[in-house]
Amino acid sequence: MSDTVAMIVFVAFPYAALTLAIVVTVLRWKLAPFTVSSISSQLLESRKLFWGSIPFHWGIVLILLGHLATLFFPATVAWWNGVPIRLYALEITGLALALWAAAGLLVLLYRRLTTARIRAVTTPMDLVVLIVLAVQIASGIWMAVGYRFGSFWSVGVVVPYVWSLLKLSPRPELLQPFPFILQLHVVSFFVLVAIFPFTRLVHLITLPLPYLARPWQRVVRMRHIEPVG
Ligand code: HEM
Repeated sequence: MSDTVAMIVFVAFPYAALTLAIVVTVLRWKLAPFTVSSISSQLLESRKLFWGSIPFHWGIVLILLGHLATLFFPATVAWWNGVPIRLYALEITGLALALWAAAGLLVLLYRRLTTARIRAVTTPMDLVVLIVLAVQIASGIWMAVGYRFGSFWSVGVVVPYVWSLLKLSPRPELLQPFPFILQLHVVSFFVLVAIFPFTRLVHLITLPLPYLARPWQRVVRMRHIEPVG
């Protein structure tokens, strides 16, 4: 990959995506606050939603916490991985969570494509989100299996790249020599960032954490009782 392409893909695009995400999210929040939602479809279909949404959300939230831990506490992660058995435990846990999330995502995708009532309310952007997430998770799993041990090597290369972006002194050269699959994983993250405010993903800013522990909605069916007399 040439320096110019690296500059576009690993610097210009990430900053453009972040700017777009922040500006449009703020505008959407201000101008159309009631659209900041995941627009639940539970009333239309709840069984597949349960088997898709719960594994996907638990898997992905825990994996992203792992990513954040590596970003903010790289020395601790490096120390943890200093003992092989702990490195294996971390990698196997990450992979298991990733497979769990992937299984959930497949159910969600299947539900969107095959359930008539859900298809009727599905927008093209709903499918785009699911497909980009699938690329994100598949490339993560590919890396975890094909380029072991990511939680170890990412501390020296990927973490400094992300910090270089955050500190506004980008170092695209760090990712340049890496395999395509890692580059894809990073780029698809910024694609997710760019489309974030235009999709259901925007519900993330409402930090709906209680939903991980209780049903998304409690829908109570009431039989209508005719008044006597
Ligand atoms: C710039 C942002 C990101 C970077 C730099 C990054 C980096 C990495 C690295 C280095 C690995 C390999 C870890 C290992 O083998 O132990 C990985 C794995 C993974 N990533 Fe990411 N990632 C990013 C964003 C995301 C996002 C947003 C998602 C999901 C929505 C995601 C999902 C995964 C999954 C499912 C795995 C495989 C499970 C694992 O082993 O941890 N990543 N990522």
